[in-house]
Amino acid sequence: MPHFSRRSFLHLSAATTAAAAFRLMNEPMLAAASRGHSHAADAVLIDSNENPLGPCQAACDAMSALLHQGGRYSDELTDILVSTFAQMEGLNPNWVRATVGSTPPLALAILTLTSPTKSYVAADPGFETGMHMAAVSGARIVNVPLSKSYAHDVKAMLAAAPDAGVFYICNPNNPTGTLTPQSDIEYLVAHKPAGSIVLVDEAYIHFSEAPSALNLVKDGKEVIVLRTFSKVYGMAGLRCGFIIASPKLLEKVLQHGGYNFMPITAVAAATASLKDPQLVPERRRINANIRQQTFQWLDRAGYSYIPSESNCFLLDTKRPGKDVREAMATENVMIGRVWPSMPTWVRVTVGTAEEMSRFRFAFQKVMKA
Ligand SMILES: Cc1ncc(COP(=O)(O)O)c(C=O)c1O
Repeated sequence: MPHFSRRSFLHLSAATTAAAAFRLMNEPMLAAASRGHSHAADAVLIDSNENPLGPCQAACDAMSALLHQGGRYSDELTDILVSTFAQMEGLNPNWVRATVGSTPPLALAILTLTSPTKSYVAADPGFETGMHMAAVSGARIVNVPLSKSYAHDVKAMLAAAPDAGVFYICNPNNPTGTLTPQSDIEYLVAHKPAGSIVLVDEAYIHFSEAPSALNLVKDGKEVIVLRTFSKVYGMAGLRCGFIIASPKLLEKVLQHGGYNFMPITAVAAATASLKDPQLVPERRRINANIRQQTFQWLDRAGYSYIPSESNCFLLDTKRPGKDVREAMATENVMIGRVWPSMPTWVRVTVGTAEEMSRFRFAFQKVMKA
């Protein structure tokens, strides 16, 4: 009798409830809803784009050091986090708000900036949370296929929606892990309909060498950038992120979302992580090495995939991806979901070297069966 983890049951019930009440779906809920069943406690979890390394040592130390202060709201710690980030990025702190991960500001931005007359424009395949929120706001949802190089096709996005409220750019993109050149994002910003907003989701930016769109925010463009500590920083369960935009835009997006105090553990861990100069380059290197080893193995074994610059990639299964996902689950390896526009592809998160070795063994077995 396999031992099922508590995590899956929580996710499954949360996904069902959230879908019914708010239709707010985030990455773990999407992963659990698509998984459809629980997994064993020792399963390889490469289905939610988590970082198996977890928080860095300095982050763990910072959290331990203030556990006894957990009875205090200590909002000054959030101010320190925001000013640390703002200083590192050359931003005015008034242009930065800390949030519990980047799902809440993403959801609020789409709810506020799209409507039945202001459409939501995104790439396909793309990260689905914005689309779910656009459905709630009653907006037209315009999904534009990625270009041949798997970048956002900004010219097609512009042509498809003269009524756009939001252009959602995820860079690197989830699920493909591919980049959209900065020049294309700049073109989109320069040619977008007046009043529309370009929302650049940089959840995975640190895994790549891509430049950030923060410069566009600094230049006063109608651009919002989202960051999260859930990916390279390994803090998905701790919940911390940023929304960065002009104070006017921040006020508009966050006005109905209220302001809630940040968990002090997440804030302390985030500040310590930002101050660790080795964290990003080291983790970027670790992820790239394991991703490269995985790609080399896939090449040797004759499987196709989309080359990625991130911690996930799309893998061609040449048969319904859903079936492969199910078969992998019986091998105790949970791989990611399938996008409707690419039904014979599955998303795989880059795990540890050991996890990817278990992935390779199971995938070979499933594909040869
Ligand atoms: C593209 C993208 N944006 C935003 C998020 C939100 O992550 P979180 O709410 O954990 O910060 C995710 C999570 O996987 C994501 O893939």
